[in-house]
This record gives sequence, structure tokens and C-alpha cells, in this order.
Amino acid sequence: MEHNDMIKQTLIDSKAIAKRIKELGKLITNDYKGKDLLVIGVLKGAWVYLADLLREVDVNAEVDFMSVSSYGSGTSTSGSITIVKDLSVSVEGRDVLIVEDIVDSGLTLSHLKDLLYSRNAKSVEVSTLLSKPSRRRVDVEVKYIGFEIPDEFVIGYGLDFDEKYRALRDVCVLKEEAYQK
Ligand code: PRP
Repeated sequence: MEHNDMIKQTLIDSKAIAKRIKELGKLITNDYKGKDLLVIGVLKGAWVYLADLLREVDVNAEVDFMSVSSYGSGTSTSGSITIVKDLSVSVEGRDVLIVEDIVDSGLTLSHLKDLLYSRNAKSVEVSTLLSKPSRRRVDVEVKYIGFEIPDEFVIGYGLDFDEKYRALRDVCVLKEEAYQK
């Protein structure tokens, strides 16, 4: 495959991802059976995980997407996110599940949860495929975590480097030479 030359190693292969998603799907199904579930995918990274996860969730969920800008390179944990693309439905009174590809500092998620609660969501929980606990800067609850990973530059399964590699089937570690130029 054309873009394999920048891969240092496979961190989580597609089989392990699929197995874990089945487990998470069962948990989410149990927790949301009979509820008015709205699943919100955070673009762009979450689309691959969301597509696979939702097909393991046996709940009639509605799906919508949001795109928010990161907080830039600043070091502040305050401030807020900028909404690049907003939801097209109301969250008022609804049980919301945010789907992310990765939680790093936790800042994006923390702001997003606050935003959805300020819009009167009934509940807001989160599922992320990946979490880097060593990078966390704010304490934010993430109920359904696929894998906790070390602080490495990961690509694939929705995650990019310079907008490439999102379609890789495995989560892989990028070679340092790709970004240390
Ligand atoms: C990633 C990821 C989260 C955020 C997590 O998005 O999808 O939204 O960063 O980081 P944090 O926990 O430090 O806030 P990114 O900005 O890379 O955009 P993308 O999903 O479009 O690739």
C-alpha cells in the first residue's frame, strides 16, 4: 500500500479493534435500550470508528456530526471550542453519546460536554476508540474507552497525519522522520 512507508509499527490491528468494538457495542446497547439516543460523531477523526461501532449497537439511534476547531497551540485550559460545523438537530432532553477517535488532553471533550449540557441535553456520555491518559490536562469522564495507549503519534482508523492515513485499517505509529523535519 502506498502510504505504508511512513509506518513505524502497528499498534492495534483491525482484528483487535473489531473485537473491542463488539464488546463496547454490547455495553452501549445495554445502557441505551429503549432510550432516545443521539450519537454525535466529532469530525473528522471519528467517522471510521462511529461507522463500525454503531453497527454493533442494537439501539435505534439517530446520528449527527459536529466539527470543532482545536484550541490551537496555546497552553491555557480555559477558553472554549470554536464550532466549525454545528449539529442539525436539538439535543434538548436527549441522551447523547459523543463518539471520538482519540482523547488526548481532554480539552475538546470537556468543552463539548459543557456545550451540550448548556443546550439542555439530558445526559452526555462519551465513547472514544483511543485514550492517552498520560496527556490528560483536564479531568473528563469517558465512559466507553476502546484502548488506552502510550503517548505516540498514531495514525489510521480515522486518525490522520497532515490529513493522510485516515483509511488505514490498523492503528499505527508514525515514523518520527515524518514529523521531525
Ligand atoms: C482530535 C480528536 C479530538 C481532539 C482530541 O481532533 O479527534 O477531537 O483532537 O484532543 P484533545 O483531547 O487534546 O482535545 P483533531 O483536532 O486532530 O481533528 P480531526 O479529528 O479532524 O483529525
